[in-house]
Amino acid sequence: MKGIVLAGGTGSRLYPLTQVMCKQLLPVYDKPMICYPVATLMLLGIRDILIITTPEDVDPLKAYLKDGSHLGVNFSYEVQEEPRGIAEAFILGEDFIGDDSVTLILGDNIFHSPSLFKQIDLKKFQSQDGCQLFSYRVKDPERFGVLGFDKEGKVTSITEKPEHPKSNYAVVGLYAYSNDVVEKAKHLKPSNRGELEITDLNNQYLQESRVVNYAMPRGSAWFDAGTPRSLLAASQYVATTDMYQGLKISAPEEIALFKGYITRSQFEQHIASVKSCEYTEYLRGIAHEA
Ligand code: G1P
Repeated sequence: MKGIVLAGGTGSRLYPLTQVMCKQLLPVYDKPMICYPVATLMLLGIRDILIITTPEDVDPLKAYLKDGSHLGVNFSYEVQEEPRGIAEAFILGEDFIGDDSVTLILGDNIFHSPSLFKQIDLKKFQSQDGCQLFSYRVKDPERFGVLGFDKEGKVTSITEKPEHPKSNYAVVGLYAYSNDVVEKAKHLKPSNRGELEITDLNNQYLQESRVVNYAMPRGSAWFDAGTPRSLLAASQYVATTDMYQGLKISAPEEIALFKGYITRSQFEQHIASVKSCEYTEYLRGIAHEA
């Protein structure tokens, strides 16, 4: 399975923070925002990752993430000239996806759900036919894509930013598809806001009864860190775990080591190449503890 991080958009909701800074490099407590979606893909066993971003942000993101070899993953880069919608990622990523299945994650979506990621059978996840969605209970569903359910809890509708939401379950920015997503995306028509909507794509799978929904369990956290308020909330969440438990959320180097994507000596070499700081001391400590 391939992975795509969609790190496009102008970040207008975060202006003036994003006037000269790439949104996905803004700090979420102790690391750049892009670390979090990358870490989520790594936890899902995905190591071939395409970063789709704007013409301005491709160089800064490359300077930070590089080719991924220090994390035992492979990063490629693609430019999205205009923000033409989430579903355009599958058209831009067609060659990269090839004959594979693909998981897409939004560059500003932050997940923390150890129980969920432990529950998922990765082999099954990577070979599942159709579309796999993740949903999260929110207070303000009208801001998101929202699921409707029947009495048995089966998904019966997906509605983008409904005035009268059918449930409190928002579809979060993490979606997995079998290879036919590329053809489906090519046939989408732009919505009223001029975008190729991910919800339209997901509704096609729903009509074909090919949708699996993973409801994120209680105790999980999900943030769409695209506004000043949610960016702060995400930072506070990550900081609290760090300050009280001494554990970092979504440190890609730590995941690379514990998932066996890099050897201990590669891990140590990488840390040695970076100036000593609280982050590298944490990595040293956690590796030693294990
Ligand atoms: C997008 C999707 C929406 C989803 C949300 C998650 O919304 O269209 O269905 O719930 O991401 O972050 P947008 O960020 O385009 O408003």
